[in-house]
Amino acid sequence: MESSVPEFPLVRDSIAGVSIAHLARQYGTPTFVYDASVMLKRLADLRCFDVVRYAQKACSNLAVVDLLRRNGAMVDAVSAGEIRRALRAGYAAHGAPHPIVYTADIFDAEALQLCVEQGIHVNCGSPEMIEQLGAVAPGRAITLRINPGFGHGHSRKTNTGGDQSKHGIWHEQLPECLARARRFDLTVSGMHMHIGSGSDFEHLAQVCGALEQAALAVGPTVDTVSVGGGLPVPYRPDQSYVDIGEYFRLCDAMRKRLEAAWGRKVRLEIEPGRYLSAESGYLLAEIRAVKRQGANVFYLLDAGFNNLARPILYGAYHPMSVAFRNGGDPKKTGPVIVGGPLCESGDIFTQEEGGYVVARELPVARVGDWLVIEVAGAYGFVMGGNYNSRPLAAEVLVCRGQPHLVRRRQTFDEMIAGERLLPPEASACG
Ligand code: LLP
Repeated sequence: MESSVPEFPLVRDSIAGVSIAHLARQYGTPTFVYDASVMLKRLADLRCFDVVRYAQKACSNLAVVDLLRRNGAMVDAVSAGEIRRALRAGYAAHGAPHPIVYTADIFDAEALQLCVEQGIHVNCGSPEMIEQLGAVAPGRAITLRINPGFGHGHSRKTNTGGDQSKHGIWHEQLPECLARARRFDLTVSGMHMHIGSGSDFEHLAQVCGALEQAALAVGPTVDTVSVGGGLPVPYRPDQSYVDIGEYFRLCDAMRKRLEAAWGRKVRLEIEPGRYLSAESGYLLAEIRAVKRQGANVFYLLDAGFNNLARPILYGAYHPMSVAFRNGGDPKKTGPVIVGGPLCESGDIFTQEEGGYVVARELPVARVGDWLVIEVAGAYGFVMGGNYNSRPLAAEVLVCRGQPHLVRRRQTFDEMIAGERLLPPEASACG
């Protein structure tokens, strides 16, 4: 694992060794570009864990899920759609360790049916899930996701522990849930805790103790413990990585204590999303206007929060760089506000939590230059939408210096494919 924080350049002319001018001309903008080598490097960092289970919600393009599968990752799914993606990307429905685990706080009808029919292992985040699965598939093994009563994330909105969080089975309800599982002849074979996304070492370390207590309360039917995801990545030069070696040592010691208590092998899982995909991803956009509003300069891009929602949702900071189309002076910089094309004042990439617009020191650029929003591979494309009837962006995966289009830009016809006009007899209502 790299202990140093990567440098974030203000000017770049290539991504993963491929020229930005080529990427923009070939695929158009806005386009997400992923560097496969970065994902695989991050996966390799976590090799010490028995199972690295990719939380595909972070970036669920089939090609990305398939790439991680071929390189040894298992996968987490939070919906019927994500289960189908995992199957489509080549995962078997069941096996040891479970190739796919459905982790959620509820079942909708489709997810329950898929888990039952395909034999997908279920991680129950509510007492209701135990009952609903047990009623139709008694005799199964299940995992319990426990909310330990504390949590921590990079934002209040990504904290998944404590009594303000809807996630997981409340730790005090564990005995009652074990009784529920017994009633349906369900065996608890896994224990899981995920306290938040973009957490820090101190909080992640606390998971080990809480998970150990919860697992001991269940007993030796447990063959797998998962410490969840949450590993942070640096988005700013003053941020750093969690010491993975040290984190593993804590988790491993906890696992060994359980093994000693029970006299059996216990598998140790980790479930990262952001750590595997964030740094590999770049959102490539074109600067379409350079506007002066009073004392402020705005770069307006053809990408907005319909493509990358993290700034408007969490005030998230993403490094940015400029790629000149026809040359420019990288040393000439100025404070700029970077926004998108949407008819909404909050469509600003340089904002802090609470919606406060801030200027960023960036190279002086012209219309037609490109702006690259970096560390955008996690919770980027997947949280995109069609606001203002803008199509979903294209996605390109660069492998060994070769760019591959892994999702073409959505067409207008695809965007409206599910819509229907009212039948003639109903048009009277207008
Ligand atoms: N496991 C569970 C049960 C989760 O709920 C999550 C994230 C993960 C694993 C992966 O967490 P990670 O390793 O990526 O931190 N949209 C937000 C993040 C939401 C995370 C939701 N759950 C963002 O853009 O920061």
